Amino acid sequence: MSQNPALDRKVVKSVLFDSGERDPRLPFQRQAEWGPPGSPITFLMGDDPRLPTMPARPTLIDFFRLRFSASTVHHLLQSATHALTAGLPEKIVLACLLHDIAVAGFIRGDHGYWGAQLIEPYVDPEVAWAIRYHQALRFFPDAEAGYAYPQTYVGWFGADYKPDAYIEAAYREARAHKWYATARLITIHDIYSQDKEAKVSLDAFVDIIGRNFRQPAEGLGFDASPVAHMWRTMIWPTRFL
Ligand SMILES: [Fe+2]
Ligand SMILES: [Fe+2]
Repeated sequence: MSQNPALDRKVVKSVLFDSGERDPRLPFQRQAEWGPPGSPITFLMGDDPRLPTMPARPTLIDFFRLRFSASTVHHLLQSATHALTAGLPEKIVLACLLHDIAVAGFIRGDHGYWGAQLIEPYVDPEVAWAIRYHQALRFFPDAEAGYAYPQTYVGWFGADYKPDAYIEAAYREARAHKWYATARLITIHDIYSQDKEAKVSLDAFVDIIGRNFRQPAEGLGFDASPVAHMWRTMIWPTRFL
């Protein structure tokens, strides 16, 4: 027995951790993780001792500080600071602050859709909509709005990269939508400099979050909203079930 009872339980990797790392049609033994078949094993079903413990009623700020990856948070803060400095309304600043939270704490692929879903019950519908569609808009330049295809993307995706048909369809849909400008502003303030020296702080956005994000009294993950389970997965990413 160890000093910490949680360490006596087996901590397994989440399914997402392996997704894409192997051909799922092949048999897969988790023996390295679980030990030989039949060995007595008790899985972790509570807090992961390797992670900072979340409060019982976690707020969005708690997720920023204790669960979201620091490098993505830095990107989000740079983006929101850029929007704030430009004098944009709080709604847009919040959209910039939250635009990549799926990448920060949940799932990278289709991050605009996951991010929008995570926050939908708690923000103005325009904010969630803009976050959903920024994913598609960033691939398409809009000279009139002052958005050019980022040079970074040529390196990241290759010069011949062409977005999937569903992304192009989403772009066309967004183009014709009354909230197009809001989603476009996210892409304009999506700062790729990743300037590690940039002086940014979440403190500057606490009041904006307070005024524009309807924090549930029970805590994110415990308010029985349709997305509560997604926040719980971020609290306990390695629970066995
Ligand atoms: Fe993004
Ligand atoms: Fe971004």
